[in-house]
Amino acid sequence: MSPPVANQPHRLSTPLPLNKRSTPSGFIKQVVQRPQTTGAIAPSSRAVADEVTRLVDFTSASTIVELGPGTGVFTEQLMQCMQPDTTFFALEINPIFAEATRNRCPQARVYTDSAMSIQHYLHTNNCSDAEYIVSSLPWTIFNETEQRRLLDTVMDNLAPGGTFISIVYLGSQLRSRGRHFTQTLPKRFSRVERHGPIWFNLPPTLVYRCIK
Ligand SMILES: C[S@@+](CC[C@H](N)C(=O)[O-])C[C@H]1O[C@@H](n2cnc3c(N)ncnc32)[C@H](O)[C@@H]1O
Repeated sequence: MSPPVANQPHRLSTPLPLNKRSTPSGFIKQVVQRPQTTGAIAPSSRAVADEVTRLVDFTSASTIVELGPGTGVFTEQLMQCMQPDTTFFALEINPIFAEATRNRCPQARVYTDSAMSIQHYLHTNNCSDAEYIVSSLPWTIFNETEQRRLLDTVMDNLAPGGTFISIVYLGSQLRSRGRHFTQTLPKRFSRVERHGPIWFNLPPTLVYRCIK
């Protein structure tokens, strides 16, 4: 496994105060109401957000797309590290979560739409493709057809040599859908690195960094 990208975050803003953030109880309410798309029991921890952010080379990223920001844990970190001229947008299918991310990160473009629509929003933002696609989509609750369609969309919209970063909860590779997702990655990408586990998360998680 090659060493992670050395990344010196370029901090542009300070985190928002706690009262502007979505609460864990708000997240849990969405888990109960939309279990088929949420796929988690709690928002990711700061430790996972730090690891995801560490794997992005912000100096070379002109376009970053985030899929499934939830309440904006990764979005907040990404926005703090991003160069001012980087194009960034996030696609979140759940309108409650999309609104939570907008409240937490008012400077971020967050569209309430499916990850399947990456290309449409790249064009809306005058971009042909993305150097980075950062995902916390619940891959392991998607069936094989859904996984294939979403990964086709990721591949079609990732720049040559671009990077796909995805979290995968520890243990989900033991289930058939989780195993299918992690076994598919080396067939799609020229290089796949597995980072973690990051134990300080509920549940502990792995972070995959995949180079097209
Ligand atoms: C496991 S949660 C992760 C949330 C957040 N990024 C975090 O780490 O705390 C998965 C997120 O993906 C969103 N999602 C699920 N399917 C989606 C799709 N097809 N397009 C966009 N977002 C989707 C869910 O609504 C949810 O916010």
